[in-house]
This record gives sequence, C-alpha cells and structure tokens, in this order.
Amino acid sequence: MTRKTPLRSQAWFGGFDKDAFIHRSWMKNGGLPDDMFDGRPVIGICNTFSEFTPCNAHFRPLVEEVKKGVLDAGGFPLEFPVFSCGESNLRPTAMLFRNLASMDVEEAIRGNPMDGVVLMAGCDKTTPSLLMGAASCDLPTILLSGGAMLNGKFRGKDIGSGTDVWKFSEDVRAGVMSQADFMAAESAMSRSPGHCMTMGTASTMASMAESLGVTLPGNAAYPAVDARRARLARLTGRRAVAMVNEDLRLSKVLTRAAFANAIRMNGAIGGSTNAVVHLLAIAGRVGVDLTLDDWDAFGRDIPTIVNLMPSGKYLMEDLCYAGGIPAVMDAIRDLLDLGVLTVTGQTLGENIEGVENFDPDVILPRDKALVQNGGMAVLRGNLAPDGAIIKPSAASPELMQHRGRAVVFEDIDHYKARVDDPDLDIDASCIMVLKNCGPKGYPGMAEVGNMALPRKLLQQGVRDMVRISDARMSGTAFGTVVLHTAPEAAVGGPLALVQDGDFIELDVAGRRLHLDVSDEELARRRALWQPLKPAMEGGYQSLYVERVLQADKGADLDFLVGCRGHAVPRESH
Ligand code: FES
Repeated sequence: MTRKTPLRSQAWFGGFDKDAFIHRSWMKNGGLPDDMFDGRPVIGICNTFSEFTPCNAHFRPLVEEVKKGVLDAGGFPLEFPVFSCGESNLRPTAMLFRNLASMDVEEAIRGNPMDGVVLMAGCDKTTPSLLMGAASCDLPTILLSGGAMLNGKFRGKDIGSGTDVWKFSEDVRAGVMSQADFMAAESAMSRSPGHCMTMGTASTMASMAESLGVTLPGNAAYPAVDARRARLARLTGRRAVAMVNEDLRLSKVLTRAAFANAIRMNGAIGGSTNAVVHLLAIAGRVGVDLTLDDWDAFGRDIPTIVNLMPSGKYLMEDLCYAGGIPAVMDAIRDLLDLGVLTVTGQTLGENIEGVENFDPDVILPRDKALVQNGGMAVLRGNLAPDGAIIKPSAASPELMQHRGRAVVFEDIDHYKARVDDPDLDIDASCIMVLKNCGPKGYPGMAEVGNMALPRKLLQQGVRDMVRISDARMSGTAFGTVVLHTAPEAAVGGPLALVQDGDFIELDVAGRRLHLDVSDEELARRRALWQPLKPAMEGGYQSLYVERVLQADKGADLDFLVGCRGHAVPRESH
C-alpha cells in the first residue's frame, strides 16, 4: 500500500552517516538482519507488564502475539516497558501515579524511533495513563486490553472483584459473616489472570477505549484467558502497521463526537465514576474541549442496560458471551454518532454492523433497564461550586433526595479513628462528610469516598447512607456516594468549612448539593480556615501537589495538558 507520510523511524534508521550507523549498529546486537531497517513501519509496543500489577502480569505471552501480528503485516515490532500503575498494591493510591506514568509514556514514544504504537493496558490506571501519554504525541495508536479475570466462584455463587469485597467486609463488620469464610473467598474471587471482572474501573476503561474507537471491536469483554484475546492481540499488531500506512493518528479518532459516544456508553454500561476524571484528562491531552457538564448533558437519560456488578448482577465473562460492547452499542445505536472514524479505518456504525445480543438478561432491553436515567449526575451548589458527581445506578433511590445532619471527618485518619466509636453521634439519616482526600489533599485523590458505614449502624441493618467527599471511589463500589467535590477541601473549597451538625441537602434530580449554613457564617469559618500540613513531602509528590488540577478538570498536571506532537528537534549525537 502507498504510504501517506514518510516514516518517522527513518530519521533514525535510514541513511549512511555516522548517526544512522549508531542507531542501527546497537540495535543489531540483538541479531537483527539489515532488512529490518529498510523502511518498514516500526511499531512500539508499550507494555505495562509488572508482577506488582497482578492485573497485567499475564502480558508476556500476549505481547508475543502482538509482535507476530506486526511481523505478519510487514512491520518491525519493538517492545518497551513503562511505569505500571497497579491498583491493588500502589500506595498511597495508584491515581497519584497516573500522570507520572503518562509522562513516561509520552516521552518514551516521542524520544524513540517509532512510527506507530500499540498500548497494552489492563488495570484501572494503566488505560488512561497510556492514552494520555500517547494523545500528547499523536502517532497512529491502537490499544489492546489485557482482559478481565474469569467470574469469581464462591460456594455456588458468582462473586465479583471489589464489589463482593465491600459487601463481605461489611458483613464481617455487621457480624453476619465469619472471618474464616471471608478468608476463603479470597482465592475464589481471583481465579485466573486478568483484571477485575466487575464493571469496575478497569472494565469501564476498556469499554471506554472501545467506545472511543481506539481498540478493535470486542476488545473490552474477551476474558484474559480466552483464546480470542490472543487472536485479538495478533490482529491489533497487524492493524497498527496498516494505521501507519494510512497515517491514522490518534487525533483523528479521539474527537469530541467520540468522547460523547463514550460518555453515553458509560451510562449504558453503568460504568465507573473514575471514567469522568480519566476521559476529561485524555480529552485535555488531545485538545478536545470536554467539560464536566458534558458528562451530565451527554449521559443524561441514557438507560443502564448492562446488568453487571456493581449496578447489576453479572460479570464481564457474561458480557462477553452476550456479545460484548459491540452488542451494547447496537442496543443504543440511535443515541450514538455512528459516523465517527475508529482505528479499524471504518466508522463505528460499520464496525457494529450485524452484531447480536445473545443474552437479554445481561444486556437488557431498554424498557427493562436497571435505571432509565443512568450516566453521571453532576451536582452543583454552595458545597460544590465547581461540581461533584454521583452515579445514580449505584445509589439507593430513597436517598437521592435527602436532607441530613453532617457527621464530619477531617481526613482519612480522623475517619478511621472515629467511625467505629460507639459514642459517635450518628444515625442512618445523617450525611457522612470526608475532607482532604482530593487530588492535593490525600495526595492523589484516593478511592476512599465510599467510606464504610459505622459498625453500630451496620449491626442495625443499615446498608447505605449519603456520603460526601472530595475523594474518588472504586468503580466496583456502590452506594449513595457524592464524589470529586470541587474545589477540594485542601485548597479551601467549601467542603473544608462543613462542621458536625450542619445540615446538607442532596437533590440528585435537581442536580443540587447545598450546605444549609448562612453566607455570613461560612465567611466567618473561612477566615479561620488553615490548610493541613501535606501528608507527604519531597520528590514527585511535591510536584504533583503543586501542579495538579482539580477533579472537574481531570486531575492532570497543568503542564501536561495539550498535544505536543511527536517531532524532536535535536539529534542525540
Ligand atoms: Fe487491577 Fe481491579 S485491581 S483492575
């Protein structure tokens, strides 16, 4: 095929001068023949493999399939490692490192001789960090997800990553599950390679990537151990080479219309609240004007038809057998822009032509949706001037309009020290308020917003209360939880001024979050407000705290926003 643009890699590997000698000669120490440098597309394979990231620890054989695909298509595959943000192990929170990883990805892509990129992602933050970094470079780029674990199986029932951890741990705290049973569930939950198999953040972000058009169709739902995942890896490698020949760069796929589609799909799948900050950040990198209010506008009135935990009852393996994301797209095709271009070189509409829903209990008919108004509700008011979000499909309908007395935790340590105090003055009608867990406050905006309820209320049978914070929550979590309150408490947002005994009004239908305290009293409190001392100082954390944007802007570092392209003005020698 005729190539549309000259190969970028030939600026390194082409020619006969000293520099070309250096670039080729050192590469040849791996036994490469001369013809690998003859002007074939070099495909960088950006691998987030790490044994500290168990969700991505199965990537070694998968990357070999990608390489085969690149070779099949006449390309030259070169794998490179990048920072791997593993959700289950990284402290204080993987989110603190999403932006750092994205910088690693961006600089590795720009600085090296590659013409196209395959991104290999899996665990929650690996997908957005790779897309953010790649979007700032804008080469032909395609993403391959690692796939979810098989369904958890425990005593005859399916159990889901995260979602059942939260349930079981509350059952133990409430005294209705034994410690021994809790321990037994551990191995039953994670019984194959892959990422969380609920519609948590990893599955959501894989679905968002597919909805944005940056993966091959079917990418999100094949289980990690399904042979079709390996097949998809090979096809992804082949497609990366073709994309270079077609000059199909990321910016041609990541358009505002593609983001609108993804936001609508997030409503349909009952996707994670974390997708909000991640899509805002990715859009910022590619130069698409996307705002928090777009989440409400595009996502409002989208029925949640994917019956997966935490909103519903099934798991990703079931979604795969039902037809996966293409079948979900087909079910809401009238709500999507089917004309957008995708990495297949075809439109979204062409990609989903002829797909079927094989299980209407997993992908529900629209008139049987879990909720008719899925998506994210963006709340505003004097408690969240720059917005806060709630996921209605995961909340209790009876709490969606609620006025309650605030019980305030100044930070996560205060919460942990106080929540199970038998003398804590709290009942089921109260609103739990957690401060200083936002981007700057924690730092890194940890997933602590779905704070566990006080033990004494759990023992009374209470299973949900209104909770408000500047934190995030796990995509696997559920409850009437208001998140991402902006500005956060650590920068003096109104959340910082809430005191025990204040009354707060939540009105999800009216999109309102109101602190029922007079302006005069708030001004008095503001004059006395003092920021907390940072929990961590020095190193990357200090840079992060100094430069991180608020949640409504995607919590990127301010100097990373934007597309800087892939040109490098200087040679290395
Ligand atoms: Fe990695 Fe859930 S912990 S996907």
